[in-house]
Amino acid sequence: MRILLFSGKGGVGKTSLAAATGLELSRLGYRTLVMSVDPAHSLADSFDLESSLFHGKTGDPYVIQDKLSIHEVNIQKEIKRHWREISSYVTSVLRTTGIDAVEAEELAILPGMEELSAMMYVNQFRREDRYDVIVLDCAPTAESIRFVSMPNTLEWYMKHIFPFQRGLLKAVRPLANKLSPVELPTDKYFANIQDLFGRLEGIGELLEDPQITSVRLVTNPERMVLRETQRAFVYFSLHGLTVDGIIANRVLPAAVTDEFFEEWRMSQRTILSEIESYFAPVPVKRVPLFTHEVMGRERLEDLARVMYDGTEDPAAVTRTEAPYTFTKEAGQYLVRLQLPFAVKGEIGLFKKGDELVVEIGTLRRHIGLPTSMAALSPGRAKLENKVLTIEMKEA
Ligand SMILES: Nc1ncnc2c1ncn2[C@@H]1O[C@H](COP(=O)(O)OP(=O)(O)OP(=O)(O)O)[C@@H](O)[C@H]1O
Ligand SMILES: [Mg+2]
Repeated sequence: MRILLFSGKGGVGKTSLAAATGLELSRLGYRTLVMSVDPAHSLADSFDLESSLFHGKTGDPYVIQDKLSIHEVNIQKEIKRHWREISSYVTSVLRTTGIDAVEAEELAILPGMEELSAMMYVNQFRREDRYDVIVLDCAPTAESIRFVSMPNTLEWYMKHIFPFQRGLLKAVRPLANKLSPVELPTDKYFANIQDLFGRLEGIGELLEDPQITSVRLVTNPERMVLRETQRAFVYFSLHGLTVDGIIANRVLPAAVTDEFFEEWRMSQRTILSEIESYFAPVPVKRVPLFTHEVMGRERLEDLARVMYDGTEDPAAVTRTEAPYTFTKEAGQYLVRLQLPFAVKGEIGLFKKGDELVVEIGTLRRHIGLPTSMAALSPGRAKLENKVLTIEMKEA
């Protein structure tokens, strides 16, 4: 199975590109699901579906055509199905503060529930072998980062905090409930968490396996969008996910010669070349600005033709190594950088702001550092088997 994750800044075109990719995959014969992980769903709109038709259905994926389904996670249904005890506990706590029932239920939708529900589906569909490719249409970058970092966080919680809390509460609950204004959660609450965790088991490995999961970062040739794309690239790498493609969407076509767009064209040209050098060797795909919105199946099919030219397989595995990784081994922070070129000459390493700059001959690469390493400076570095390992130390 393949998982393709479309992420990027708000409004750059993630949903449209994910939907078009889904159409192309199904045309190639893959059993495909396009799933929206964005709580503000717009996938059905992208296919121009009647919302009554779409939402009237069960929580199951909606079949668009042979080999293509789409799925928008319906959080209210998910709560009934999976989060009952957790949400009823949170609701009861909120109600003690005087909030009315309906409002408390709304508030009891905790951040991350949608993402976790989507992950449970991915896991379930994988176990059932229902699809060959799952295309994830993500929420804007910040939330997609939460989506990919959650398995690790949860695992940590389940290992270190959960057994302790559950055991402790068992002991103190009878007494504490007499004294405390807020009821402590019952053991059912913990049973629910444990059940959910079981459903998520293995998802972390799935996301970090480059043979299975690839991230496609969507960007526009604009400076502010590029910055966010660079940060996203660093964070996906940090979480062990492989970005195997950058898609620069809304590139002004050459046919537009209107004077009004002259400055746009110039800046797009500059930024496109920056995008290419920054992300090299990850390929950058250019998608033109269309003369119209991309909505409905026909227009999505046009978009798919432009993206894949009828020759490229969107599910192909093209990159199997993350370009760089951050680790901590025996108390030592390390940055590892894949150098797929034959390198000659000296390697220069220095800091610029919170970025690590690596110079190899005439090549220069800026690497945004994760927060835990931002204050550190590069120390010794060694190059072995096309991998540069840099030790990071206190300045
Ligand atoms: N290349 C393009 N040419 C013209 N219009 C486009 C192009 N790509 C996307 N659009 C249009 O831009 C709008 C936003 O696109 P889309 O909803 O796919 O972005 P998004 O990144 O998913 O946004 P959000 O962050 O809100 O989820 C839509 O109306 C879409 O039809
Ligand atoms: Mg979207």
